[in-house]
Amino acid sequence: MSDFSIDELVIPASPNAPSWPDFEAAVHVRNIIEAEGFGTNDLQYSAAELLPGWLNTKYDPKRMFVARVAGAVVGRAAYETLPGPNDDHAWLIAQVLPAWRNRGIGTALADRVELLAATQNRHELIVYTVSAEAAGERLTAPTGFGSVPLGNSEVRFLLARGYRLEQVERGSRLELPADKTLLRRFRADAAAHAGGDYTVHCWSEETPPRWRDDLALLYTRMSTDAPTAGLEEPEDVWTAERLVDEETSRVGSPRRMLTAAALHEPSGRLVAFTQLSVPAESDRSVGQEDTLVLREHRGHRLGMLLKSANLEYLAQESPGHPSVTTFNAEENRHILEVNEALGFVPMGYEGAWKRVVPLTDESIESSDSR
Ligand SMILES: CC(C)(COP(=O)(O)OP(=O)(O)OC[C@H]1O[C@@H](n2cnc3c(N)ncnc32)[C@H](O)[C@@H]1OP(=O)(O)O)[C@@H](O)C(=O)NCCC(=O)NCCS
Repeated sequence: MSDFSIDELVIPASPNAPSWPDFEAAVHVRNIIEAEGFGTNDLQYSAAELLPGWLNTKYDPKRMFVARVAGAVVGRAAYETLPGPNDDHAWLIAQVLPAWRNRGIGTALADRVELLAATQNRHELIVYTVSAEAAGERLTAPTGFGSVPLGNSEVRFLLARGYRLEQVERGSRLELPADKTLLRRFRADAAAHAGGDYTVHCWSEETPPRWRDDLALLYTRMSTDAPTAGLEEPEDVWTAERLVDEETSRVGSPRRMLTAAALHEPSGRLVAFTQLSVPAESDRSVGQEDTLVLREHRGHRLGMLLKSANLEYLAQESPGHPSVTTFNAEENRHILEVNEALGFVPMGYEGAWKRVVPLTDESIESSDSR
């Protein structure tokens, strides 16, 4: 067994803070695992890009732990919850650099964040992790859509710890530049189908003040209206105040957010949106973030209308990026059909895993008193 230690990382307030090199090393671990699993560098983030999310923990508390060998970071674990003391969920991940696996480091990291979850009375543990393609037997998601290779180390690791595969997410990639004529045609067809009740509005960075409440509702519905299979993830409530807090925390980030939203003219409310997270460097890939059409406005091709509009907006605002990447549940045919029509092709798959830790007498007592 190698001599390793685990400690909690102090999230650096800025790149000048003493723990910045460790934070960078932990981001490096994340990037290596994404590249290994998806076979592309498109999903790489810099430490500066990820820092705002780690510093803003008011609405989604998070903590990071690192595993070290002779001082060097060789693995990391992340822990995230919702702030409400009655919420029962924790999102966890343990990642170890390939050269340091099979030495008990992953187990120690996972033990650390699972212990934290137990201490905070979080009994529903959720892990999203990439599973690289491999030959051999497969484990199929209970949704019936998608599977992961049973022999992969992360699959064996999670099964041995009592997690159940609940859902498979497809990672897809669209090569840029997208065909302009095709985009224009998709957008025109979708607009004709949607009719005159809906208009498209695009903006960069902060949401215009008059639409903050609407966007907050759309974000909240992201947590309840997207298919989450047996994960049963909780409602994550957004308010205009939280939206402003989040957008303010991103000021100074090297990335910028491009949004396309559909305004329902009769009600004067935004009823659908889609967002792209754009890195400053034009030779890097763009990340597709949330897309949602409120249930009561589905069936009007607003998904295609907004996605094609935002890709046109991207080409105008920040041309030259090599690709856009996106993640969707494998059973979510509606959004996959839109993405496939636009030219997205699969680049890899992620398993979404859940473990429900039985309540002990002790945890029932402490949850009664909270
Ligand atoms: C999954 C992952 C975290 C495991 O990390 P790891 O450091 O290799 O984990 P461990 O060493 O604790 O356990 C892995 C294997 O090594 C074995 N092992 C544990 N201690 C050992 C030791 N001292 N000597 C030899 N083998 C050991 C374990 O029994 C296990 O064997 P098994 O797969 O045959 O059951 C790692 O593969 C990884 O980072 N994968 C990518 C990220 C990911 O998918 N994370 C999801 C999990 S939250």
